[in-house]
Amino acid sequence: MNFSNFYNIYQNRINNKLLNVLNNLPSQTSILIKSMKYGTLIGGKRLRACLVYTIGEMFKVNIVTLDVISISIELIHSYSLIHDDLPCIDNDYFRRGKLSCHIKYGENFAILAGDALQSLAFNILSTHVMPGVSNRKRLKIISELSYAIGCTGMCIGQALDLQKNTKELNITELEKIYLYKTAFLIRSSIRLSYLSSNFFSKEILLLLDRYAISIGLAFQIQDDIFDFNNDTKKLNKNHNIYNTYPYLIGIKKSQEKIQILHQEALSILKFFKKKHFIINKLKLLTDFIIKRSK
Ligand code: IPE
Ligand code: IPE
Ligand code: MG
Ligand code: MG
Repeated sequence: MNFSNFYNIYQNRINNKLLNVLNNLPSQTSILIKSMKYGTLIGGKRLRACLVYTIGEMFKVNIVTLDVISISIELIHSYSLIHDDLPCIDNDYFRRGKLSCHIKYGENFAILAGDALQSLAFNILSTHVMPGVSNRKRLKIISELSYAIGCTGMCIGQALDLQKNTKELNITELEKIYLYKTAFLIRSSIRLSYLSSNFFSKEILLLLDRYAISIGLAFQIQDDIFDFNNDTKKLNKNHNIYNTYPYLIGIKKSQEKIQILHQEALSILKFFKKKHFIINKLKLLTDFIIKRSK
């Protein structure tokens, strides 16, 4: 099987779904909707959506249900990036190779676009048809996602990330920030997909969680390595370059850590294979997420 074939299919699928959802909102000519579309539709690797589809396929979830989950996750992810780039957070001028949302539309609209994307995600998750998902399951899904992105997940991670600029951290403290700010949304993408299936085993959920944490951490360390080599980010005073993985332990050790996490993720996939789940696509996606070049 060729990785780019199925990755392109999933990417096109989620891009069309996102376009459709955003094109059907009222007030299309408003700056709010324009900034929401800009922050969501321009670029983006759609890795989290592809994880949703790949895991969902593994556990035989209806594709329409997976669409709803992947749309919601990508809307939340886009909101988080728009706010992450604001002058009061990372103060980044560029995102996805283009001007950041606040540079293009202004801080006021970027804040509102993020807010509106977040509530749109939950509106979709609570109202769109999800074949095979009972209302009880739907509630569980909504509760899981809200838990993963607020003061018990991504937001506290972002807050700790801001606080980290004021003192020197050790690796354990840094890893905690990465878990919260990045790995938990990745874990939630995987959990939502699994929770919408007809399988339910605590053992599998636990293994999926371990898999998610391994790739989530590896993903953020790799992101730090990209930033380490990016001169624009190095000059940005909002980025405390000394409190990142490559600065704390060096590039080589950071790469070794990524390798260890990669192997951990692959060993969990082997277990799924033994249980007769088809893991070919997930294996290719795992390799891509960890070895990606941007
Ligand atoms: C960037 O995520 C933010 C991090 C959590 C490191 P991605 O690299 O997945 O961003 P896009 O969606 O592809 O732009
Ligand atoms: C982004 O982390 C994490 C979230 C938006 C939750 P970073 O700030 O490290 O990611 P980039 O480098 O801006 O994409
Ligand atoms: Mg940040
Ligand atoms: Mg940032």
